Amino acid sequence: MFDLTGKKALITGSTQGIGFAVAGCLAAQGAVVYVNGASSEAKTKAAAERIKGAIPVTVDLSGVNCAEDMYAATGEVDILVLNASVQYRNAWDQITEEEFDRQMNVNFKSNVKLIQTYVPYMKKQGWGRIVTVGSVQQYKPHKDMLIYAATKCAQMSMVQNLAKQLAPYGITVNNLSPGVIETPRNEKALADKAYERQVLSGIPCGYAGTPEDCTAGALLLCSGEGRYLTGIDLVIDGGMHL
Ligand SMILES: NC(=O)c1ccc[n+]([C@@H]2O[C@H](COP(=O)([O-])OP(=O)(O)OC[C@H]3O[C@@H](n4cnc5c(N)ncnc54)[C@H](OP(=O)(O)O)[C@@H]3O)[C@@H](O)[C@H]2O)c1
Repeated sequence: MFDLTGKKALITGSTQGIGFAVAGCLAAQGAVVYVNGASSEAKTKAAAERIKGAIPVTVDLSGVNCAEDMYAATGEVDILVLNASVQYRNAWDQITEEEFDRQMNVNFKSNVKLIQTYVPYMKKQGWGRIVTVGSVQQYKPHKDMLIYAATKCAQMSMVQNLAKQLAPYGITVNNLSPGVIETPRNEKALADKAYERQVLSGIPCGYAGTPEDCTAGALLLCSGEGRYLTGIDLVIDGGMHL
Protein backbone atom coordinates (compact mmCIF):
# COMPACT_ATOMS: atom_id res chain seq x y z
CA MET A 1 0.00 0.00 0.00
CA PHE A 2 1.03 3.60 -0.65
CA ASP A 3 3.94 2.63 -2.89
CA LEU A 4 5.25 5.72 -4.71
CA THR A 5 8.09 4.00 -6.57
CA GLY A 6 8.60 5.70 -9.94
CA LYS A 7 6.83 8.90 -8.90
CA LYS A 8 8.46 12.33 -8.75
CA ALA A 9 7.18 14.75 -6.13
CA LEU A 10 7.82 18.44 -5.64
CA ILE A 11 7.14 19.71 -2.14
CA THR A 12 7.38 23.49 -1.90
CA GLY A 13 8.74 24.95 1.33
CA SER A 14 10.25 21.67 2.46
CA THR A 15 13.52 22.67 4.11
CA GLN A 16 11.88 22.43 7.54
CA GLY A 17 8.61 21.89 9.38
CA ILE A 18 5.60 20.23 7.76
CA GLY A 19 7.03 20.30 4.22
CA PHE A 20 10.22 18.56 5.32
CA ALA A 21 8.25 15.82 7.14
CA VAL A 22 5.99 15.28 4.11
CA ALA A 23 8.99 15.13 1.77
CA GLY A 24 10.65 12.52 4.01
CA CYS A 25 7.47 10.46 4.14
CA LEU A 26 6.94 10.48 0.35
CA ALA A 27 10.62 9.56 -0.18
CA ALA A 28 10.30 6.69 2.32
CA GLN A 29 7.46 5.36 0.16
CA GLY A 30 9.73 5.36 -2.90
CA ALA A 31 9.17 8.77 -4.53
CA VAL A 32 12.02 10.92 -5.79
CA VAL A 33 11.44 14.21 -3.99
CA TYR A 34 12.44 17.76 -4.79
CA VAL A 35 13.12 19.74 -1.63
CA ASN A 36 12.46 23.45 -2.01
CA GLY A 37 13.30 26.55 0.01
CA ALA A 38 14.08 30.18 -0.70
CA SER A 39 16.32 31.61 2.00
CA SER A 40 19.62 29.92 1.12
CA GLU A 41 21.07 27.27 -1.16
CA ALA A 42 23.05 25.83 1.75
CA LYS A 43 19.87 25.35 3.80
CA THR A 44 18.01 23.65 0.93
CA LYS A 45 21.00 21.40 0.25
CA ALA A 46 21.38 20.46 3.93
CA ALA A 47 17.67 19.57 4.16
CA ALA A 48 17.81 17.46 0.98
CA GLU A 49 20.86 15.62 2.29
CA ARG A 50 18.74 14.35 5.21
CA ILE A 51 16.27 12.64 2.84
CA LYS A 52 17.26 9.64 0.75
CA GLY A 53 17.65 10.56 -2.93
CA ALA A 54 16.19 14.06 -2.51
CA ILE A 55 17.11 16.84 -4.92
CA PRO A 56 17.46 20.42 -3.62
CA VAL A 57 15.78 23.27 -5.51
CA THR A 58 16.27 26.81 -4.26
CA VAL A 59 13.55 28.97 -5.81
CA ASP A 60 11.81 31.93 -4.18
CA LEU A 61 8.08 31.60 -4.76
CA SER A 62 7.52 35.33 -4.36
CA GLY A 63 9.28 35.95 -7.68
CA VAL A 64 7.49 36.71 -10.95
CA ASN A 65 9.21 33.84 -12.78
CA CYS A 66 9.02 31.34 -9.92
CA ALA A 67 7.09 28.65 -11.82
CA GLU A 68 9.42 28.80 -14.85
CA ASP A 69 12.47 28.65 -12.59
CA MET A 70 11.04 25.74 -10.61
CA TYR A 71 10.15 23.80 -13.77
CA ALA A 72 13.61 24.42 -15.24
CA ALA A 73 15.08 22.77 -12.14
CA THR A 74 12.70 19.81 -11.80
CA GLY A 75 11.16 18.97 -15.17
CA GLU A 76 7.83 17.11 -14.98
CA VAL A 77 6.52 15.78 -11.66
CA ASP A 78 3.64 13.46 -10.79
CA ILE A 79 2.91 14.91 -7.36
CA LEU A 80 2.77 18.55 -6.37
CA VAL A 81 2.55 19.45 -2.69
CA LEU A 82 2.05 23.20 -2.40
CA ASN A 83 3.16 23.79 1.17
CA ALA A 84 5.27 26.99 1.23
CA SER A 85 3.72 30.04 2.82
CA VAL A 86 4.62 33.25 4.58
CA GLN A 87 2.74 34.78 7.45
CA TYR A 88 2.74 38.24 9.00
CA ARG A 89 1.09 39.20 12.28
CA ASN A 90 -0.37 42.67 12.10
CA ALA A 91 -3.63 44.38 12.98
CA TRP A 92 -5.99 44.56 9.99
CA ASP A 93 -5.70 48.34 9.71
CA GLN A 94 -1.88 48.28 9.85
CA ILE A 95 -1.20 45.79 7.03
CA THR A 96 1.45 47.15 4.69
CA GLU A 97 1.47 46.89 0.91
CA GLU A 98 4.56 44.70 1.09
CA GLU A 99 3.02 42.25 3.59
CA PHE A 100 -0.14 42.11 1.49
CA ASP A 101 1.70 41.37 -1.77
CA ARG A 102 4.18 38.88 -0.34
CA GLN A 103 1.48 36.75 1.29
CA MET A 104 -0.69 36.83 -1.84
CA ASN A 105 2.27 35.96 -4.07
CA VAL A 106 3.82 33.13 -2.04
CA ASN A 107 0.65 31.63 -0.55
CA PHE A 108 -1.69 31.85 -3.52
CA LYS A 109 -0.41 33.28 -6.82
CA SER A 110 2.64 31.01 -7.04
CA ASN A 111 0.41 27.98 -6.47
CA VAL A 112 -1.82 28.90 -9.40
CA LYS A 113 1.27 29.36 -11.58
CA LEU A 114 2.84 26.07 -10.47
CA ILE A 115 -0.39 24.21 -11.21
CA GLN A 116 -0.60 25.84 -14.65
CA THR A 117 2.98 24.72 -15.30
CA TYR A 118 2.87 21.14 -14.03
CA VAL A 119 -0.66 19.99 -14.90
CA PRO A 120 -0.27 19.58 -18.70
CA TYR A 121 2.07 16.58 -18.16
CA MET A 122 -0.22 15.09 -15.50
CA LYS A 123 -3.14 15.42 -17.92
CA LYS A 124 -1.17 13.77 -20.71
CA GLN A 125 -0.24 10.78 -18.56
CA GLY A 126 -3.72 10.56 -16.98
CA TRP A 127 -2.44 10.66 -13.40
CA GLY A 128 -1.54 13.41 -11.00
CA ARG A 129 -1.82 14.47 -7.38
CA ILE A 130 -2.03 18.04 -6.16
CA VAL A 131 -2.15 18.77 -2.43
CA THR A 132 -2.29 22.32 -1.13
CA VAL A 133 -1.50 23.02 2.50
CA GLY A 134 -4.10 25.29 4.03
CA SER A 135 -4.79 26.14 7.65
CA VAL A 136 -7.32 25.87 10.44
CA GLN A 137 -7.53 29.63 9.86
CA GLN A 138 -9.88 28.86 6.95
CA TYR A 139 -12.38 28.18 9.78
CA LYS A 140 -11.05 30.32 12.61
CA PRO A 141 -9.07 33.27 11.27
CA HIS A 142 -6.60 34.86 13.68
CA LYS A 143 -7.50 38.52 14.14
CA ASP A 144 -3.95 39.65 13.28
CA MET A 145 -3.56 37.46 10.18
CA LEU A 146 -6.31 38.73 7.90
CA ILE A 147 -4.42 38.35 4.61
CA TYR A 148 -2.80 35.02 5.54
CA ALA A 149 -6.19 33.49 6.42
CA ALA A 150 -7.74 34.92 3.25
CA THR A 151 -5.00 33.39 1.07
CA LYS A 152 -5.78 29.97 2.56
CA CYS A 153 -9.51 30.44 1.82
CA ALA A 154 -8.69 31.50 -1.74
CA GLN A 155 -6.55 28.38 -2.07
CA MET A 156 -9.43 26.17 -0.91
CA SER A 157 -11.70 27.77 -3.50
CA MET A 158 -9.09 26.99 -6.15
CA VAL A 159 -8.92 23.37 -4.94
CA GLN A 160 -12.68 22.91 -5.30
CA ASN A 161 -12.70 24.61 -8.67
CA LEU A 162 -9.83 22.57 -10.13
CA ALA A 163 -10.81 19.25 -8.50
CA LYS A 164 -13.92 19.21 -10.64
CA GLN A 165 -12.11 20.22 -13.84
CA LEU A 166 -9.16 17.85 -13.45
CA ALA A 167 -10.94 14.73 -12.16
CA PRO A 168 -11.62 13.41 -15.69
CA TYR A 169 -7.84 13.33 -16.26
CA GLY A 170 -7.06 11.18 -13.22
CA ILE A 171 -5.75 14.17 -11.30
CA THR A 172 -6.94 14.73 -7.74
CA VAL A 173 -6.76 18.12 -6.05
CA ASN A 174 -7.10 18.33 -2.29
CA ASN A 175 -6.25 20.58 0.62
CA LEU A 176 -4.70 19.59 3.96
CA SER A 177 -5.39 22.04 6.77
CA PRO A 178 -3.09 21.81 9.80
CA GLY A 179 -4.00 23.29 13.15
CA VAL A 180 -1.26 24.25 15.60
CA ILE A 181 1.83 22.26 14.62
CA GLU A 182 5.20 22.58 16.34
CA THR A 183 7.48 23.90 13.60
CA PRO A 184 10.19 26.59 13.46
CA ARG A 185 7.47 29.04 12.36
CA ASN A 186 5.72 29.19 15.71
CA GLU A 187 8.58 28.18 18.03
CA LYS A 188 9.00 31.71 19.34
CA ALA A 189 5.28 32.41 19.86
CA LEU A 190 4.72 29.12 21.70
CA ALA A 191 7.78 29.69 23.91
CA ASP A 192 5.61 32.28 25.68
CA LYS A 193 3.94 29.94 28.21
CA ALA A 194 0.89 32.15 28.80
CA TYR A 195 0.25 32.34 25.04
CA GLU A 196 0.81 28.61 24.68
CA ARG A 197 -1.78 27.89 27.42
CA GLN A 198 -4.28 30.14 25.67
CA VAL A 199 -3.68 28.41 22.30
CA LEU A 200 -3.88 24.89 23.75
CA SER A 201 -7.15 25.70 25.52
CA GLY A 202 -8.71 26.04 22.05
CA ILE A 203 -7.62 22.56 20.93
CA PRO A 204 -10.00 19.77 22.00
CA CYS A 205 -7.14 17.21 21.96
CA GLY A 206 -5.28 19.49 24.38
CA TYR A 207 -1.90 19.52 22.69
CA ALA A 208 -0.11 20.88 19.60
CA GLY A 209 0.59 18.51 16.72
CA THR A 210 3.96 17.61 15.24
CA PRO A 211 4.89 17.75 11.54
CA GLU A 212 4.67 13.94 11.54
CA ASP A 213 0.97 14.20 12.43
CA CYS A 214 0.47 15.64 8.95
CA THR A 215 2.35 13.00 6.97
CA ALA A 216 -0.12 10.09 6.88
CA GLY A 217 -2.87 12.35 5.59
CA ALA A 218 -0.56 13.88 2.98
CA LEU A 219 0.57 10.43 1.87
CA LEU A 220 -3.01 9.25 1.41
CA LEU A 221 -3.79 12.29 -0.75
CA CYS A 222 -0.62 11.70 -2.83
CA SER A 223 -1.13 7.99 -3.33
CA GLY A 224 -2.81 5.75 -5.86
CA GLU A 225 -5.03 4.54 -3.02
CA GLY A 226 -6.39 8.10 -2.69
CA ARG A 227 -7.79 8.15 -6.23
CA TYR A 228 -11.42 8.64 -5.14
CA LEU A 229 -10.67 11.58 -2.85
CA THR A 230 -10.84 14.93 -4.57
CA GLY A 231 -11.89 18.46 -3.66
CA ILE A 232 -11.71 17.74 0.07
CA ASP A 233 -10.24 19.61 2.98
CA LEU A 234 -8.45 17.18 5.28
CA VAL A 235 -8.26 19.05 8.57
CA ILE A 236 -5.49 17.84 10.89
CA ASP A 237 -5.90 19.96 13.97
CA GLY A 238 -6.90 17.96 17.04
CA GLY A 239 -10.42 19.37 16.63
CA MET A 240 -9.43 23.04 16.76
CA HIS A 241 -11.71 24.06 13.88
CA LEU A 242 -14.83 22.83 15.72
N1 LIG B 1 2.93 25.28 11.79
C1 LIG B 1 1.64 25.49 11.96
O1 LIG B 1 1.14 25.55 13.09
C2 LIG B 1 0.74 25.65 10.77
C3 LIG B 1 -0.63 25.81 11.01
C4 LIG B 1 -1.49 25.93 9.94
C5 LIG B 1 -1.00 25.91 8.66
N2 LIG B 1 0.33 25.78 8.45
C6 LIG B 1 0.79 25.76 7.05
O2 LIG B 1 1.64 24.66 6.86
C7 LIG B 1 2.65 24.99 5.89
C8 LIG B 1 4.02 24.72 6.48
O3 LIG B 1 4.14 25.43 7.68
P1 LIG B 1 5.40 25.30 8.65
O4 LIG B 1 4.97 25.73 9.99
O5 LIG B 1 6.05 23.99 8.43
O6 LIG B 1 6.31 26.48 8.03
P2 LIG B 1 7.79 26.98 8.38
O7 LIG B 1 8.40 26.23 9.52
O8 LIG B 1 7.70 28.46 8.47
O9 LIG B 1 8.58 26.59 7.05
C9 LIG B 1 8.25 27.27 5.88
C10 LIG B 1 8.94 26.63 4.70
O10 LIG B 1 8.60 27.40 3.53
C11 LIG B 1 9.78 27.83 2.88
N3 LIG B 1 9.54 29.15 2.29
C12 LIG B 1 9.25 30.30 2.91
N4 LIG B 1 9.13 31.30 2.02
C13 LIG B 1 9.34 30.76 0.80
C14 LIG B 1 9.37 31.28 -0.51
N5 LIG B 1 9.16 32.58 -0.76
N6 LIG B 1 9.64 30.44 -1.54
C15 LIG B 1 9.88 29.12 -1.31
N7 LIG B 1 9.88 28.57 -0.08
C16 LIG B 1 9.61 29.38 0.96
C17 LIG B 1 10.86 27.83 3.95
O11 LIG B 1 12.12 27.59 3.34
P3 LIG B 1 13.45 28.48 3.62
O12 LIG B 1 13.40 28.91 5.06
O13 LIG B 1 14.53 27.52 3.30
O14 LIG B 1 13.34 29.62 2.66
C18 LIG B 1 10.45 26.63 4.81
O15 LIG B 1 10.95 25.45 4.26
C19 LIG B 1 2.40 26.45 5.52
O16 LIG B 1 1.62 26.53 4.36
C20 LIG B 1 1.60 26.98 6.69
O17 LIG B 1 0.80 28.08 6.32
C21 LIG B 1 1.22 25.65 9.47
